[in-house]
Amino acid sequence: MEYAINIADLFKRYPHAEFNSLDGLTLRFPKGKISGLLGPNGAGKTTTISIMCGLVMPDAGTVEVMGLNARTQMHQILQKTGIVTQQIALYPLLTAWENLSYIGGLYNIPQPQLQDKIAFLLERFGLQNSAHKKVKHYSGGMKRRCNIIASLLHDPELLILDEPTAGVDIHSRAMILDFLQAYNEEGHTILYTSHLLEEAERLCHEIAIVDNGRLVVQGTIDELKHQVADVHTLEELFLHYTGRSLRE
Ligand SMILES: Nc1ncnc2c1ncn2[C@@H]1O[C@H](COP(=O)(O)OP(=O)(O)OP(=O)(O)O)[C@@H](O)[C@H]1O
Ligand SMILES: [Mg+2]
Repeated sequence: MEYAINIADLFKRYPHAEFNSLDGLTLRFPKGKISGLLGPNGAGKTTTISIMCGLVMPDAGTVEVMGLNARTQMHQILQKTGIVTQQIALYPLLTAWENLSYIGGLYNIPQPQLQDKIAFLLERFGLQNSAHKKVKHYSGGMKRRCNIIASLLHDPELLILDEPTAGVDIHSRAMILDFLQAYNEEGHTILYTSHLLEEAERLCHEIAIVDNGRLVVQGTIDELKHQVADVHTLEELFLHYTGRSLRE
């Protein structure tokens, strides 16, 4: 089996923290699928993704992304991977077109090709009529859609999205999910996080539930549901494994 992501014994404690945000996390996601990284607030999802794309350094453990080592081959990883961050990573005072031209330039995409790609993706995400509006005037859903486009300009083999549908309306959500499904069917691997379990259930071929910086359980949703008596939905499964105590 070829893995898109292969994480072993990953530890991370942030400076001055009293506990480990990642505490021996081990998990693998296959190539070619849509996988969900699920877990309560503070479980360590964003920390894991941040390590995969070089924004955070781990204390110990190994991380391979598309067969490449995250400690020594981050440049190659970033060529093959698109990252959609939980926080919108766009310049509010620039237009969508200006933002995307700038970001595409960082990947050294030749200009004519980049301009075509931007036009294609703005249309695909329903933003063609707002291409020259400043991002600060965009709605939350438009910002999220533009944030996703920014990660697609270099046509990544692996797309990692950290809560791509947080705070968007039902139309933007449907559009984003349809896109992710189609993108996967074109052969791209997708890893995504969400708190919306119905959404994850609809989208993901397999899931991993993490809590307190550790893997709790991993498999296809059907497989996992069958392992626990009286569990019919992903929400019930999630509560079964993570308990009901509130997180900070
Ligand atoms: N920069 C940081 N400095 C200190 N502690 C941090 C930092 N980033 C995250 N943490 C802590 O690490 C733990 C894991 O956080 P992380 O953001 O990875 O969780 P998450 O699963 O993405 O949560 P959420 O669902 O709320 O986005 C939390 O306890 C959080 O408070
Ligand atoms: Mg997070």
